[in-house]
Amino acid sequence: MLGWVGAGALVVVGGTLLRAQRQGLLDPRTGPAYTAWQPTHRTGAEAVVAAAVLAASPHNLQNWWFRPTTAADDSVTLDVHDDTSRSLGVVDAHRREAHLGIGAAVANAEVAAPALGFDTRLTIRPRADDDTLLARLVLTPRTPAEPDPLAQAIPHRHSDRGAYPPEEPSADLLDRVRATALTGAAGVDLVWITATDQRQRLGTLLVDAATALTADHGMSVDNAELIRYDHQQVERYGDGLTIDAQALSPFLEVAAQLLPATSRTQGDKSWVRSTRDVHTATARAYGLVVGDRSDPATRVHAGRVLQRLHLALVAEGWAMQHMNQEVEMAERDATLGTADRFDAPLTQFAGGQVIAALRMGRPSGRAVASPRRPLADVLR
Ligand SMILES: Cc1cc2nc3c(=O)[nH]c(=O)nc-3n(C[C@H](O)[C@H](O)[C@H](O)COP(=O)(O)O)c2cc1C
Repeated sequence: MLGWVGAGALVVVGGTLLRAQRQGLLDPRTGPAYTAWQPTHRTGAEAVVAAAVLAASPHNLQNWWFRPTTAADDSVTLDVHDDTSRSLGVVDAHRREAHLGIGAAVANAEVAAPALGFDTRLTIRPRADDDTLLARLVLTPRTPAEPDPLAQAIPHRHSDRGAYPPEEPSADLLDRVRATALTGAAGVDLVWITATDQRQRLGTLLVDAATALTADHGMSVDNAELIRYDHQQVERYGDGLTIDAQALSPFLEVAAQLLPATSRTQGDKSWVRSTRDVHTATARAYGLVVGDRSDPATRVHAGRVLQRLHLALVAEGWAMQHMNQEVEMAERDATLGTADRFDAPLTQFAGGQVIAALRMGRPSGRAVASPRRPLADVLR
């Protein structure tokens, strides 16, 4: 017979197990929100879109929708739109990151297309009078090619926010992946920051930007909006930042998912700590993408460069994490008309206006898949 203590323990354990089940701790990354990562049975333009949605997007916002139109000669015009109903609020007040995400989706579509039986012709901003139609990809039937290393990397690319091992990249590797990333890009450059003292100074700027962002109430609130603590939310929305993709310490990860939704300030503190002790402490190189931040076409090109870079790194056995709090805070200072804290130092590092940033290194082993929305929601 159970005493009170035993019965109480059973209730607590039972309750915790129920919550663990609800939070997906017992079956992480299973369910419809993750099927996009499985090999697809789809063919034609639908398969191209299925590859496009595996791209990175800011906070996993997936602010894209696609309209394929098939012509009499079987070529398909795939229009890629920015879904302006999906937004990061004040964190991305000018939709710079939203447009970068569209560029990333376009890159995946282009890279996947030849093995799916299409040649591609890309036009960025095909119609000056349509702000949301950011790219048009004409797909012309061809004999399917063997998937190249970039195409093969698509389902294996995940944002890696863990601690990168000490190995430094060679100059040769950085040159090679930079050239791959910049293929077909206009108005954009990629600058590597590798010298130890420069990396330290840029790392400090990134930690300062994370600290400043969390100290700004509006930014902090909108930054937390897409964090999905609950597995049921993940399945319901198929978007956002999951706890397991943050590569927290095992204890923090379980606590964040088991305890009632962690407070925003706790999350902010944990993010600043990770930025200081993990992200910047183990960055083996930083990449700064340079281009006109205010120009939508340049943003799409830059997003395409970022995604191609990530695929090229994964194909060569390396990892990457986008890191954009410093550009977000540069824009925030400008919007509020407060003294610039981040833009001038960033421009100095890169020798031009920085539109996005990232770190790279060998994989931490902690990167996992993030949810995706159903294809039916983004095909119109
Ligand atoms: C424009 C852009 C900005 C991003 N900024 C950040 C960032 O500052 N920090 C971060 O950890 N991830 C950042 N990401 C990565 C996204 O959060 C990630 O792509 C998304 O959650 C989907 O996960 P996946 O890349 O593993 O598929 C960014 C991605 C894009 C495209």
